[in-house]
Amino acid sequence: MSRNASPTLLALYTSMAVAIFSTAIFLSISYIFKMEVYPLYYLLTLFIIFFTTFLLFRFILIRFVYSKIKIIYKTIGRPLKFQEEAKLNSSSNLIKTVERDVAEWAINKNKQIRELRKMELYRKEFVGNVSHELKTPIFNAQGYIETLLDSDLDDPTFIKMYLEKANSNIERLETIVSDLLEISKFESGRVELNKEAFDLVKLIKKVFFQYQHLAQRQNTTLKLHSDENTVFVFADIKRITQVLENLISNSIKYGRENGTTHIYIHDLDEQFLIEISDNGPGISPEHLPRLFERFYRADKSRNRKINGTGLGLSIVKNIIEAHEQTINVSSELDKGTTFSFTLQKYIP
Ligand SMILES: Nc1ncnc2c1ncn2[C@@H]1O[C@H](COP(=O)(O)OP(=O)(O)OP(=O)(O)O)[C@@H](O)[C@H]1O
Ligand SMILES: [Mg+2]
Repeated sequence: MSRNASPTLLALYTSMAVAIFSTAIFLSISYIFKMEVYPLYYLLTLFIIFFTTFLLFRFILIRFVYSKIKIIYKTIGRPLKFQEEAKLNSSSNLIKTVERDVAEWAINKNKQIRELRKMELYRKEFVGNVSHELKTPIFNAQGYIETLLDSDLDDPTFIKMYLEKANSNIERLETIVSDLLEISKFESGRVELNKEAFDLVKLIKKVFFQYQHLAQRQNTTLKLHSDENTVFVFADIKRITQVLENLISNSIKYGRENGTTHIYIHDLDEQFLIEISDNGPGISPEHLPRLFERFYRADKSRNRKINGTGLGLSIVKNIIEAHEQTINVSSELDKGTTFSFTLQKYIP
């Protein structure tokens, strides 16, 4: 029997079988006892048997099927959907709809399982990264303090130098912990933005000035390109400063010596698009999708000498998304990297 047989069809087959069977019995009895058969009575009885069997079987089957389907819908956690479907569909359509709903449910569940596995892996990686990043400054600070404790403590220059080294490691520890706290605040939506109108050109020049020393060390040129002398945006100035600081410092740190960082401000209808481009070694495509993850660092061997934790871009993304704006990255090996993000225009 077809797997799509509906209760009506099953009831029809059954009642036909019952009708044929009772006809055979009726005719055999009439033949054995030599009874006279009136064709009209016979046909009428046959019809009544067929019809009542049909109705009875159909009723029982539908009750049975519905009760099973109800359990299926309860199992897949959609009892209300069952009521809707039952109202809208005949019993035969209902079976097909149930098949579709269960298949849909199975696909969703598989997707959820894959997501959970990914998150589990991400969580394990995250715990490993936190421990690793915290361990290094703790061990360093501990090493300097132990050396001091083992020494005669008679050379003030030596004592000061070791205390300063221990202190800088403790400062690094503090930076990592406060960055992590900040990310977790953003992720749980506990950050309130203080939006105001400010001039982005002025802010970019201020951040350029701040990173002048770092740029000079690498002989990097910082250039701003804007059609207007003032560009007013509506955003949280402290947070956007953080964004610019990280993107500009990254372009210097991970750019090349004697390189150039260009910042372009493009006027979109209701937003400005800000592009920060360097002509450094670039990032290979396999790293790009994970670049904004916490602790993710693209080229660990090259970055080892650069003092970064890989938390900066995660904070940047959280800040831009809290402003309901977007950030993207594109990069080509040996050509350079461009980060672009939007900001809301200030319209008085
Ligand atoms: N302009 C760039 N060119 C090449 N690689 C980059 C660039 N910007 C970021 N990266 C890569 O992305 C990684 C993550 O950057 P992110 O700013 O999150 O961390 P960081 O600079 O290493 O540390 P932090 O910003 O926390 O001090 C970097 O380690 C680097 O590998
Ligand atoms: Mg950074």
